[in-house]
Amino acid sequence: MRAKLPQKPRATVAPPRLPGVGHVGVFGKTQFGKSTWTRKALESAELTSAGRRVFVVDAKGDWRAWCLAAGFMFMTADELLQAPGYLLTDNVCLMVPDRTPRAAGRAFRLLARLVHARQIQCVVVAEEVGSYAEFCREELHTLATQGLPHCRLLVVAQRPAVVPKTVRSQLDALALFHLDEPGDVEAVVERTRDESLAAVLPSLPVGAHREWVAGLVQHPNPLPPKESHPS
Ligand SMILES: Nc1ncnc2c1ncn2[C@@H]1O[C@H](COP(=O)(O)OP(=O)(O)OP(=O)(O)O)[C@@H](O)[C@H]1O
Ligand SMILES: [Mg+2]
Repeated sequence: MRAKLPQKPRATVAPPRLPGVGHVGVFGKTQFGKSTWTRKALESAELTSAGRRVFVVDAKGDWRAWCLAAGFMFMTADELLQAPGYLLTDNVCLMVPDRTPRAAGRAFRLLARLVHARQIQCVVVAEEVGSYAEFCREELHTLATQGLPHCRLLVVAQRPAVVPKTVRSQLDALALFHLDEPGDVEAVVERTRDESLAAVLPSLPVGAHREWVAGLVQHPNPLPPKESHPS
């Protein structure tokens, strides 16, 4: 039976208003609210419309409670290898029991290959992808450059600078939390071409963020729905 996402948001953040198309990046230093925001975004109709499955690569194990409440199927990479058909019927939380970057990278690789080969309509949440991107660089690149329209990537990372540039350049929307490392701020400014973010991002408190869509930044949030998708 298809798992359902919870109807009621459980956190006190403003409803995400990112557009219903494209890949999304969620960047910010640890504990500033990325995962909270991402879960809210998944609960919104925009990201999960059109019968899309949601697949979470739970690199740190901190999505467990939310996925449990939402009725996700829990699997390891090995279990997914044995029963890939669950991707067609369920939302799946891909567990990484030893929480090593190598194992998380392997889980993402497997998921990405299945999703891409079968053209599954889905949102793939690459949680804390910065910690394991080096182990799944090719698959990340493939989903980022060839995944749409069937697969939307939600790239969540503490350090945008360690997300491969070829992936960053494919992000159609960003949710930006507190960032103060020069390399990370630079990576964001490079993608958005908005130099004013260099002053804004280091001063954001917990939970505060800026949303950016395809070259347009507005302060404060939310952004209006995007009308067209860049080719
Ligand atoms: N909008 C908000 N207002 C107040 N507190 C918030 C808000 N968003 C998140 N928090 C709180 O901040 C803490 C960190 O949130 P969250 O786990 O989402 O951060 P994170 O960026 O994903 O951290 P990490 O990188 O360590 O996974 C949590 O205690 C959460 O409840
Ligand atoms: Mg988090």
